[in-house]
Amino acid sequence: MASVFGVGIATVDIINSVESYPDEDAEVRASTQHVSRGGNVCNTLTVLSQLKHQCYWSGVTCRDSDTHFILDDLKKNQIDYRYAQHLDSGKVPTSYITLNRLNGSRTIVHYRDLPELSYQFFKMQKIPKCDWFHFEAREISDTQKMISHIKNIYPKATISVEIEKERKGLEDIFGFADLYLFSKAYALYSGFDNPLKFLSDQKLNSPDADLTCTWGEKGAVALLADGTIIESSAFPPTHIVDTLGAGDTFNAGIIHARLSELDWQQTLSFACQLAGKKCGQMGFENLAAS
Ligand code: ADP
Ligand code: FRU
Repeated sequence: MASVFGVGIATVDIINSVESYPDEDAEVRASTQHVSRGGNVCNTLTVLSQLKHQCYWSGVTCRDSDTHFILDDLKKNQIDYRYAQHLDSGKVPTSYITLNRLNGSRTIVHYRDLPELSYQFFKMQKIPKCDWFHFEAREISDTQKMISHIKNIYPKATISVEIEKERKGLEDIFGFADLYLFSKAYALYSGFDNPLKFLSDQKLNSPDADLTCTWGEKGAVALLADGTIIESSAFPPTHIVDTLGAGDTFNAGIIHARLSELDWQQTLSFACQLAGKKCGQMGFENLAAS
């Protein structure tokens, strides 16, 4: 068992399942509705907790009723949130998600009225010594300072950063962490239709880091600090049920496999298998069970 500290957002996800994706301006009835706690890092920690790691979360919540729902769920998943910031006003992030039962696609409309976790707050916390620190690249300047702070106080810890989408000043986050986990969405946004070409381009920014990029049903690619290329196919389940958080599950698989000292080929395959399993079920329950 290792210890993992995650920094990112916690959300309330309102998930409506529909038989097929609606046309614009249509009125359709959802076949089911689930409300669950989401957020990339929180989802990743949920899976890591199932894999028996000691997990800590830091992010921002506020005094609204949804915060209780979020914190109760983190507690249920044995994720320690004592280093989170609780503000007096605001609205915790909420995602309105349309899950297409035909293909498991998830379309997310996200609303938030809450500041990001600040470096000012983070540096005042007595952050525990952990084996691994995982950050969502959100407010870049503060995230970069948090990473430098952790490198300073815990130089032996491994640091990973998830790059899901374009952010202001994103270029400043590169060159600091040990591992960057990129999404297909960001690779496409950057003008690449191939994960390896994308990672080769990213290597110029972070030559000493390991890099991964997921590619949905095509699996994932890694480009390691020493230049080695690793590829894994996806592991599709019998039926695709729910792809919400497939990338977050993949990230948990990578972190777990590296903490377990698997080699990189095994690491990438394990992460794709875990993410594939997640796509075959609703939510994140029991993903660690074999
Ligand atoms: P995100 O959740 O960021 O959109 P992706 O869609 O790229 O992430 O998927 C992350 C990982 O989940 C992929 O690398 C793959 O292993 C797995 N995955 C995603 N979609 C499928 C699918 N349709 N079939 C099998 N595995 C999938
Ligand atoms: C899935 C997810 C959801 C959340 C949204 C935030 O990856 O973390 O749980 O609502 O993305 O961007």
